[in-house]
Amino acid sequence: MALDIKKIRDDFPILQTMINGNPLVYLDNAATTQKPQSVIDTITDYYTRYNSNIHRGAHHLSNLATDAHEEARKTVQKYINAEHRHEVIFTSGTTESINLVAFSFGEAFINPGDEIIITEMEHHSNFVPWQMLCERQGAHFRVVPFDENGDIRLDVLERLLNEKTRLVAFNHVSNSFGTVNPAREIIQMAHDAGAAVLVDAAQAVQHIEHDVQALDADFYAFSGHKIYGPTGIGVLYGKEKWLEAMPPYQGGGEMIDLVTIEETTYNKLPFKFEAGTPNIVGPIGMAAAIDYINALNFSDIMRYEEEVLEYGRNKLLEIDGLTFYGNAQRRTSILPFNIEGIHHFDLGTLLDSYGIAVRTGHHCTQPIMTALGIEGTVRASLALYNTKGEIDALIEGIHKAMKMLGR
Ligand SMILES: Cc1ncc(COP(=O)(O)O)c(C=O)c1O
Repeated sequence: MALDIKKIRDDFPILQTMINGNPLVYLDNAATTQKPQSVIDTITDYYTRYNSNIHRGAHHLSNLATDAHEEARKTVQKYINAEHRHEVIFTSGTTESINLVAFSFGEAFINPGDEIIITEMEHHSNFVPWQMLCERQGAHFRVVPFDENGDIRLDVLERLLNEKTRLVAFNHVSNSFGTVNPAREIIQMAHDAGAAVLVDAAQAVQHIEHDVQALDADFYAFSGHKIYGPTGIGVLYGKEKWLEAMPPYQGGGEMIDLVTIEETTYNKLPFKFEAGTPNIVGPIGMAAAIDYINALNFSDIMRYEEEVLEYGRNKLLEIDGLTFYGNAQRRTSILPFNIEGIHHFDLGTLLDSYGIAVRTGHHCTQPIMTALGIEGTVRASLALYNTKGEIDALIEGIHKAMKMLGR
């Protein structure tokens, strides 16, 4: 069944915005997505009807809020097909999820001389925490390069994996190329070498398959705001066996069992990793976003997004002097490019004046830009509400900008 895109667009009030007399063309979805009315209403409803602190409360509102918060954990568990609900840890976002693993797994399992492997196409949030961990523990930081199409060099990964490799971290989808990395294959290779695997799913969980058990991921991280939910909330999925063996990341309220002057014992999962008053409404809003996605057919979303992506890619490739960077074997949602003789920032600024929102720069992937020998790119990124008409507006905008800049 095809998606009813007109209805979907009507569900996102911000898409009605006009900028300088032009309808907003929002193509910055890899940075953050817009929110459907149902998510906005769910958040308003929480603050209007049952705002309260959770878990410890002995009163009606606290029970309502606790139930909704924990129900949201169930929604996430089902969405990513985690075996247990307590394998879903709420964090502030992908960045915190990865830092949690880098600190906690790092403290328990990384020793001097151990090796951690990441890829050259990681977002800084799946790069720097591992570099910092290696510095702290005296471990070695290994980086797998990508090839001329933006695909991971699996042959190099194969060579780098050895009995000292403790962890492999990579993104399922690259935010700068849109490459869909062969996650199942990489995880199998890492497991065969005895290493655990963290999958950065920030750009994957809303666009492609996202079954943590089918992937056999040890850790899986994503952000609510990139899947049509609110900011300040994210998820760390971890296999029970790892989470049980890892020490808490932060100390404070909620993460304890018993506190005495002599020692503290810790709460059970997932609360061991959720110190302090959490973002109570965040998971509730994120669950509303997941409900929104679930009400559509996910294979329809994938098919539709792929169609718009390939339409955009083909249209962009027709532009004289345009270099396109998203040429991996399998790709999703990202259209990265530069136009000869035009600075990416200038193009982005002109597009903005026509109401077209794109992102320009290094996209928190400086190692990619260094490898390509460029400073940055223009990146248009798609969500389920984007249309071929919006791609046409982007192409028209680029031609107008090129003319204005004398190209
Ligand atoms: C691939 C990838 N990983 C991690 C992140 C970090 O996500 P957040 O800033 O929501 O923590 C991003 C954000 O753009 C991303 O694209």
